[in-house]
Amino acid sequence: MPNKETVLQWLSEVEHPGFDDKNVVELGLVSSVDVSSEGKIGVTLTFPRRPEPLKNYLKGAVEACLYRHAPGGTEIDVTLETKAASKPAQKGIQFNLDQLREVGHIIGIASGKGGVGKSTVAVNLAVALARMGYRVGLADADVYGPSIPTMTGTENVQIEMMGEDENDNLFVPVEKFGVKWLSVGHVSPEGQALIWRGPMASTALKQIILQTLWGPLDFLLIDMPPGTGDIHISLIGDVPLSGAVIVTTPQAVALSDVLRGVNMFRNPQVNKPIYGLVENMSWFTPEEHPSEKYYLFGKDGGREMAQALDIPFLGQIPLVQSIREDADDGTPAALLDRPDSKAFQALASALISAI
Ligand SMILES: Nc1ncnc2c1ncn2[C@@H]1O[C@H](COP(=O)(O)OP(=O)(O)O)[C@@H](O)[C@H]1O
Ligand SMILES: [Mg+2]
Repeated sequence: MPNKETVLQWLSEVEHPGFDDKNVVELGLVSSVDVSSEGKIGVTLTFPRRPEPLKNYLKGAVEACLYRHAPGGTEIDVTLETKAASKPAQKGIQFNLDQLREVGHIIGIASGKGGVGKSTVAVNLAVALARMGYRVGLADADVYGPSIPTMTGTENVQIEMMGEDENDNLFVPVEKFGVKWLSVGHVSPEGQALIWRGPMASTALKQIILQTLWGPLDFLLIDMPPGTGDIHISLIGDVPLSGAVIVTTPQAVALSDVLRGVNMFRNPQVNKPIYGLVENMSWFTPEEHPSEKYYLFGKDGGREMAQALDIPFLGQIPLVQSIREDADDGTPAALLDRPDSKAFQALASALISAI
């Protein structure tokens, strides 16, 4: 029979697809290995107290790995355990608003459709507000495409949980750039978010907002999922939003989505103030010619829409290559002092005035 070290070596072939393909041994998930002289190998995988949708996949992968390496006829037994006595919060949890009691304004950042730069605006607005001295948190509730971990360079951070039982099992947000961040993406391995649908998605995003140790904040921004579906209604129903900011591009098709977004918040049952409209990708400015403006998606569509709908217009953000690069690198543009960074600082000031 192999010894324990050999078994661990075998198991280091089993990678966790959610953590940059780090293997289960490296990730510290293998808590015990027992090799008995009667030809039995027992392995225990212990998971930290966080949601781990890939548990059963990993169990199967570990079993397959052991069968592949062990001598024929070896009995294989893999057990799963969760660290600490309590189970991670799941269905049926009662949400309460305790964690939001020290939060001043809860602002939903919404857009009628995806790809207009909602997350880019949310992240940079958070950073710009923090630079002004406000205490800021951002909850990434976009269950369909959480991008905050990448945009803040926190994709490999392991989220801790606090509290002793299911009812006060709380996420601890990641602190970086003076902002507290927590994303659906932080608590589910990469690529898993897309399979969250319906009630599960609603529960997940409410957990992100309501079961997190935000502490005292002036602003909690919520990067909402794009669109205006059931998940939004459920979110707006359970989270006491103070109001919303809507992001669009100047394009006519994007603007018709804005109208739907605005109507969602203005619906009598919802009735939340819209603090303003942000026009993103207002013009393209080449890096080497900062004074030139090319209106790729039309000119002032957002400004005109805001006027027509009687919503404050919070400002225009140019389309600049470095904003995209900074997002991909995890260093938000608003941290810097470039001309395009200033657009986010102006946006933050305009929001404060609108509120
Ligand atoms: N003003 C901008 N200038 C350059 N690139 C931008 C700008 N706004 C957004 N992007 C890029 O466009 C893509 C979509 O933006 P994102 O914020 O993820 O949109 P959404 O959250 O609305 O789906 C990202 O790659 C982002 O970096
Ligand atoms: Mg997004």
